[in-house]
Amino acid sequence: MTTPLTAEHNGPTATGSRPVLRVEDLRVRFSTGGRTIHAVNGLSYELMPGRTLAIIGESGSGKSVSVRALTGLLPPSAEITGSARLGETELVGLDERSLRGIRGNDIAMVFQDPARSLNPTMSIGAQIAEAVRMHDRVPKKVAIERAVELLTLVRLPAPERRIKEYPHQLSGGMRQRVMIAIALAADPKVLIADEATTALDVTTQAQIMELLVDLQERLGAAVVMISHDLGLAACYAHEVLVMYAGRAVEHAETRTLFSNVRMPYTHALLGAIPQLTTPSHARLTVVGGHPPDLASLPDGCPFAPRCPRATERCRVEMPPLEEHEPGHLYACWHPVEGPPGVGPGAAETSGRAEASGHAVAGPGGGAVPAAASPNGDTGGKELT
Ligand SMILES: Nc1ncnc2c1ncn2[C@@H]1O[C@H](COP(=O)(O)OP(=O)(O)O)[C@@H](O)[C@H]1O
Ligand SMILES: [Mg+2]
Repeated sequence: MTTPLTAEHNGPTATGSRPVLRVEDLRVRFSTGGRTIHAVNGLSYELMPGRTLAIIGESGSGKSVSVRALTGLLPPSAEITGSARLGETELVGLDERSLRGIRGNDIAMVFQDPARSLNPTMSIGAQIAEAVRMHDRVPKKVAIERAVELLTLVRLPAPERRIKEYPHQLSGGMRQRVMIAIALAADPKVLIADEATTALDVTTQAQIMELLVDLQERLGAAVVMISHDLGLAACYAHEVLVMYAGRAVEHAETRTLFSNVRMPYTHALLGAIPQLTTPSHARLTVVGGHPPDLASLPDGCPFAPRCPRATERCRVEMPPLEEHEPGHLYACWHPVEGPPGVGPGAAETSGRAEASGHAVAGPGGGAVPAAASPNGDTGGKELT
């Protein structure tokens, strides 16, 4: 590793530094069989070094496509427009060769299924050493030494012995540690974890998330964590971006968002959505209706057909994503009003629970996602 392990963690209050990743009006569409699928529709966000951004949303909301677009991991049928800048480098429109150089170097990705990402015929030591040598042309022996260091860093027990083992000899959690070691071999500026813990049991999920948080704080990398698990997002992310139909519909510091949800869709995800026309005790616990057809999106708010607060305006006019309260962006004409006493003040103590104290899952004393218990129960909703 060439990065000092002392890199200071830029907490939620970090304002002086520059974004490591700046995504602006990112759009991705697929043209297949005469249909055009609008998977990402004007996504914008900035990511500061040392920060963790959770992107959450139902299955098919464009989470994976939005991050794959950054690293050239989409098929040629994908048409990508807008801008995504990694430092000074514009990624949109970059040639495949340059993207390959960025992929696994400046931006590393960890996916849900480590078994498929690892080569079954190579020892894990050889695979990590290969990743080290792709980044830094050191002799093989040095690369193997680094592999042991990296496995120690990701807390794989008995790394000297384990480097000789093959993926099938490891548990799912250990394989994910190996994937993280491979990701870290290149000192990435941005680490993208796309449902990286989804396939793991609850205890291992927590261990891997804590590992990611710890490494991120020590290495100073920025993390984009894609998750269907609101509990994980609440515990481990500094900020949360909620995606619907390829757009950000709500984005704020974790505590602000969870204690002061504005967008009815987010509320629905959390399992409680006050309606304009029904008594306040009425509660929905699942997001009723179907996600929109990405091949024929409406003019207005794409959530309107499922939204109990929707009015005629919502059906004809798309609400823009705007900063309606300090640090709190949402796209809604009829935002949910917060309960008395829970206001923008909650934003003052923003940021995720400390890594070591993820039991502190009650940001700002406000509503921890009701639907997101630490055991991964999302109230029966399919959010992946
Ligand atoms: N290669 C592809 N060709 C056509 N459509 C695709 C392709 N990849 C993804 N999509 C579509 O893009 C939308 C967003 O997908 P995805 O980003 O994987 O969703 P998420 O990760 O939020 O579950 C989905 O409707 C999906 O079917
Ligand atoms: Mg996905």
